[in-house]
Amino acid sequence: MVGFLQAQNCSNYPASWRHPESATDFLTADYYQRIARILEAGKFHLAFFDDRLALPDIYGGDHAEAVRNGVRVVKMDPIPILTMMGAVTTRLGLGATCSTTYYQPFHVARMFSTLDHMSGGRAAWNVVTSLNDSEAANYGADRVIDHNERYDRADEFMEVVLGHWEAWDPDAIVLDKERSVFADPAGVHRLDHEGRFLRSRGPFTVPRTPQGRPIVIQAGQSGRGRQFAARWADVIFAIYPNLEFGQKAYAATRDAATAAGREPGSYRVAPAAYVTVAEAQAEAEEKAAFIASLARPIDTLALLSEALNYDFATKPAGEPFTDEEMASISGLQAIRDRVVTLSGNPHPTVEDFVTYSRRGTVNEMPHFVGTPPPSPMRWRNGSRARPATDSCSPRPTCRAPTRISRASWYPSCSAAASITKLCRADAQGESRPGKHAMIAR
Ligand SMILES: Cc1cc2nc3c(=O)[nH]c(=O)nc-3n(C[C@H](O)[C@H](O)[C@H](O)COP(=O)(O)O)c2cc1C
Repeated sequence: MVGFLQAQNCSNYPASWRHPESATDFLTADYYQRIARILEAGKFHLAFFDDRLALPDIYGGDHAEAVRNGVRVVKMDPIPILTMMGAVTTRLGLGATCSTTYYQPFHVARMFSTLDHMSGGRAAWNVVTSLNDSEAANYGADRVIDHNERYDRADEFMEVVLGHWEAWDPDAIVLDKERSVFADPAGVHRLDHEGRFLRSRGPFTVPRTPQGRPIVIQAGQSGRGRQFAARWADVIFAIYPNLEFGQKAYAATRDAATAAGREPGSYRVAPAAYVTVAEAQAEAEEKAAFIASLARPIDTLALLSEALNYDFATKPAGEPFTDEEMASISGLQAIRDRVVTLSGNPHPTVEDFVTYSRRGTVNEMPHFVGTPPPSPMRWRNGSRARPATDSCSPRPTCRAPTRISRASWYPSCSAAASITKLCRADAQGESRPGKHAMIAR
């Protein structure tokens, strides 16, 4: 069980910071240490920080809307925060995201193996290739490199990181003070990597960690991304919006892992879900409805533009994307492809992207609403059946309702209504491209 966190309180569900009870001391260590203690007491395996190296400033070509509305605009460095969280826990796993495009492998290897030592073997690295031009701009590049090339570089990056993590033999440290032998030189190896994208010599400066190396997490969902995840990951993150989609995606991951020579039990798949709990079902439903009502259309539009590396403000809401425009989406292609699959439309409109991606809403993934066992939880959205489960997913205390109303597909009645309204207005020529957020407010 993974607690999906961000180093701030305006999270992947941006509306979370608008909740009257959400804590505001997110720039303090105390905030994250409280979360760490709660996750550990709740038997979570891992506290995980997602990350991105830029604000969501692609929508409308400006950061103003995202900053004003608190759409994932604060992102502190997760490693120092994880260190603080590790200091007040003993069993909780500590995971953070780090990019193979903008960091050097020696740096990443050293950071995570240090965290692994300092936490007694609890570190995990989520390998991402990064996805948009804003991140590129912050690291001195004009634009993000192409999707598949990012993964080619990432493959080599993994060889370097894993190579460095192997540099010290398990028994290399001798610590014989009398003979002045700190470590056996024959047990410490240089990597001497010279590849297509990267060079790194070694020897690595951090001895082998308690479990041999940190855990590797990955969430590639495109064909190339899935191939990468299946090759390298101990834990694979996934988003399965409904059972049928989940079964197909899970089977594709399993096939890719088999093709990479992996045994079925050598990796775990963790599908994402939202959970709202209360002591009584009605209370949980009320709580979930209130949380959902805090979402605003700008959340979805800003996050879609960020993730897909495409400015959704440049298109009227009802106009279909052309083949060329679809191909030019260079960011998170899994979202683009999911919208095509779920809508059945190879040329979706902005409105289709909003409706079917459900980005920035609590319906982006299965949402379980209910009481703790023994009474069942209900799956609120997305499908008539239970989500695909595996050893990391919520267990069958979750039950799908027999009938799901159309309204339950939407983030919240108010947010959905305003999106629909603004899209309709746009289709009737009452608004111009670039103005969705302004109208929605
Ligand atoms: C649960 C989950 C967490 C993710 N965390 C991050 C992250 O922190 N930073 C990031 O840039 N991408 C993140 N991603 C995006 C993935 O790394 C990957 O790019 C995405 O799933 C699309 O797959 P593709 O790269 O094969 O197109 C995450 C994806 C999922 C499903």
